[in-house]
Formats: sequence, C-alpha cells, structure tokens
Amino acid sequence: MQHLTSIIRISGLFFLLFNPVALTVYASTDDLMPESAVFGSGDRKQGYDSDQYVTNSLSITARKGAKADLLQFINEPMLGLPAVRQPVDNIATTEKVELGRLLFFDRRLSLNDTFSCAICHIPEQGFTSNEIKTAVGIEGRSVKRNSPTIYNIAHYDVLFQDGREDSLEQQAWSPLLAHNEMANPSIGYVINKIKAIKEYQGLFEKAFAGKGPTMETVGMALAVYQRTLNSANSSFDQWKYGNTENALSQHEIAGYQLFVGKAACASCHLIGQDYALFTDNQLHNTGHGYAASMGIKAAKTRVQLAPGVFVDVDNEIINSVRQQPKQNDVGRYEVTQNPYDRWKYRTPSLRNIALTAPYMHDGAFSSLREVLDFYNRGGVENELLSPLIRPLNLTDQEIEQLIAFMQTLTGSNVKTLVADAFAAPIGDISKEDPNWAHDTKYSD
Ligand code: HEC
Ligand code: HEC
Repeated sequence: MQHLTSIIRISGLFFLLFNPVALTVYASTDDLMPESAVFGSGDRKQGYDSDQYVTNSLSITARKGAKADLLQFINEPMLGLPAVRQPVDNIATTEKVELGRLLFFDRRLSLNDTFSCAICHIPEQGFTSNEIKTAVGIEGRSVKRNSPTIYNIAHYDVLFQDGREDSLEQQAWSPLLAHNEMANPSIGYVINKIKAIKEYQGLFEKAFAGKGPTMETVGMALAVYQRTLNSANSSFDQWKYGNTENALSQHEIAGYQLFVGKAACASCHLIGQDYALFTDNQLHNTGHGYAASMGIKAAKTRVQLAPGVFVDVDNEIINSVRQQPKQNDVGRYEVTQNPYDRWKYRTPSLRNIALTAPYMHDGAFSSLREVLDFYNRGGVENELLSPLIRPLNLTDQEIEQLIAFMQTLTGSNVKTLVADAFAAPIGDISKEDPNWAHDTKYSD
C-alpha cells in the first residue's frame, strides 16, 4: 500500500513537471495552427457552405504528442464527475493503463492490420468520427450505427446504444470480432497475434501478476485505458459545482435554465446535486429511431458538392446506387425481443457534445441546431414515444440559448487527453514484425 501511494505521488509529481511541457508544445505551435485544430475533425467544415471557406485540416506531421499521467483522471475525480467505479478485480494501475493504451492504438489488432479502435474512436475528433454518420469498418464494410465517444465511458451502467453490454472488460471483444469492424476470425487468433508481437512481450505479465495475454487480460487492459478518459471541469462545472459565478455568461445560464426547466432535457440528461452525468443510463424512444427505421424523410436529400454548391437529389436515385441495402435498426428490441422496446436507445451523455458531431445513434443530425429542432417539434410521433417527449414551443432565441449552454460542456483536459493519444505508438505492421504474416506463411 505504501508502495502504491508513493507511485501515485510520484506520478502526480511527474504530471506537474510534465504538464508545462505539454503547454509549451501548444504555445510554440500556436502561430502554425489554430488552437481548435488540436481537437476538432481534420476538416471541421465550419462555414463549408460559404465560398469563403478555408480548410482547418491539421497535417499528421503538425500533430504534437505529449504523454500524460492518465491514472490521475481515475484516482482524482474531476469537478462535475463522481468517483470512477472500478471492478474489484481490475483496479487501474499505471502498467494496465499503458498496456491498454498500446492496444487501443494498435492497428495489428485487426484481421488485415489496418484497424485499431482509434480508427473509429478518433482522439482529435472527440474520440468519435466527426466526418461520417455511421461507422465504416475493415475493407469499407458498413456499420449501421454512429461511433459514440469514449469520453466518460466509465460512468455508463450500460454500454452500446442499445445497452447490450454492461462491462467494459467484455465490450472490447465485440469490435475485435465483428466481421464489419476489426474482423478477427476468433479470440485465439487475436491472442496468438499479440503473443507474437515483440512490443507486448512481458507487458501483460507485469500488469496482471504473471498472467499473459488472454481473452480476459486483453479486455481488462483496454477497459482500464478507456476508464481514464474522463473529461469534466468544464465552464458549466466551474459555474455549477465550483462556485465560479462568472464561468457562464447570462446567455448560457438562460440555456441551463431552459435545460432543467421549460425544455425538460434534464429529465433524461441528468444533472445532480454534486455531479452531472447528463444521462440517466436508461433507454428511451424519442421517435428518431422510429422515423429512421420507417424511412420517414423528405423525398430529396440536399447534397453539397463543394463550398457553396448544392444539389437536391431524389432519394430514389440515392437508394438505387446504394451498394448495400440500409440495415434496419430497432434499438433495444434487438436485445430483448420485447416489442415495447422498439426504437429505444440509451440516453447519451452530453459532456463534450460540441466535439462529438454528428448526433444520434445513426449520426443523422450534423449540428446541435438540427437536434434542437427535432426536440422542439416533439420528436416523431409513434405508438411507443416516451411520454417525456412533447412539443416544446421554444423560440429561436431559446434554442440558441440551449445550444450555447451545451457548448459549455467541453472538459478542461481535452487537450491533455488528445495530446496523450497523439504520443501513443500507432502499431503499424512492419517487415520486422513476426506478424508480417502473410510473408512468412507464403515463403514456407
Ligand atoms: C469500425 C469502427 C469501430 C471500431 C474499429 C471500434 N469501434 Fe467502438 N464503437 C463503434 C460503434 C459504431 C459503436 C456503437 C455500436 C452500438 O451502439 O451498437 C461503438 C461502441 C463502442 C463502445 C460503447 C460506447 C457507448 O457509448 O456505449 C465502446 C466502449 C467502444 N466502442 C470501444 C471500442 C474499442 C475498445 C475498440 C477496439 C477494440 C473499438 N471500440 C473499435 C465503432 C467502432
Ligand atoms: C426521454 C428522454 C430524453 C429527453 C427528455 C431528452 N433527451 Fe436527448 N437524448 C435521449 C436519447 C435516448 C438520445 C439518443 C437518441 C438516438 O440515438 O436515437 C438523446 C440524444 C440527444 C443528443 C445527441 C447526443 C449524441 O451524442 O448523439 C442531444 C444533443 C440531446 N439528446 C439533447 C437533448 C436536449 C437539448 C433535450 C431537451 C430539449 C433532450 N435531449 C431531451 C433522451 C432524451
């Protein structure tokens, strides 16, 4: 125990020493890139509809990594978040965090060595994918849902948008094995591959008291890394839980009052006395899933070809060139087979919402304005609509206030977490790799 406390102390000190370095990295590159480029999609497309548009892309070489002490984000809860719950048999340690971080960014963990977890949960894009509505897996295979953010994932009671998992330790095996995500043929295949990769030698044994890579330890390491990705202490948290009255503007406070009052958003996106998860960890039918699965939409879709250039395309034409039929999505029903669970999805947290577009389980809405217009209309009427969803009669100004409030939910450590992710090795296959599989096998 003594030993553990001193590790925590030393790593805390390490962070204090290290953090100024991270800050200098940003400061020294400030004139080369807009600050926001550090976390924002490669190309934010803000104002893309105007012919004045200028790209905000950040080249790979401009990325600056700075390793952070991630364990602190588990051990010292940030303002606005409760203590992180951890399974008793998988308490976070520096060794586990480091190992999980290696695995999360390792592209060799997929069948053809191209797909890591971070290809869909992209750190600089809010640990989601800002540029696509629904995920695309190995060899361009379609996934029917939007990649959710991994920020604050430790605080969900149920995982996935239909709540089909409840343990981060087990969750990782879904994408590792899904044929349209990382496409590994079996658990053993992944384990053998990890055993063959030089960089992992001894690391599992060190992190898990002598245990090597197994189905269990791979899941545990990935879970621990993801549990560190907590992000709060936002302007809202400073205002609500930190007694800093001027952390929010009057406009943003008006948005908060609507959120907990007239618009009643907080009846599902909870805000508590001591902390706010912005989720009730329950599943609800907002009507969005119903509309999407019934194909209720306009006859034409507006497609943007270039800055300022649009065409309205008949949906029939779009459907006729679709390579794969769109997969139906009935939400929670797919897990329970209970007809009353149709089109129910888990309430997502709204923390860091400004960074995690597009929105909803299918990424249908690209802006918060579209989400608010949807709620203002009362969602989409259907026989199973949640009684909490109803027309809100919000004025334009009230909608703007609600959006401004939601934009105050970006955590104060986002840059630290993104810079840490940039410092992680990518795990690309190389000729030296025993995994250069395909070569070794053919030459036999
Ligand atoms: C092909 C893109 C893709 C890859 C690769 C991928 N994910 Fe995901 N991830 C998704 C999508 C899409 C979902 C939502 C699926 C659903 O809700 O049914 C998801 C959901 C999750 C969730 C649950 C999020 C929530 O809000 O409940 C976690 C945690 C997660 N992924 C972690 C990982 C890890 C760890 C890896 C690597 C082992 C990984 N993902 C690889 C696309 C991906
Ligand atoms: C009945 C519970 C409920 C109420 C009330 C509610 N929401 Fe939601 N919210 C949800 C659920 C469930 C989803 C996910 C829907 C989906 O993926 O199809 C969601 C999704 C969202 C999203 C998209 C999040 C993301 O990461 O994709 C935003 C933004 C949002 N809600 C904001 C609001 C606001 C603002 C209000 C008030 C006007 C509100 N919500 C009221 C349950 C609710």
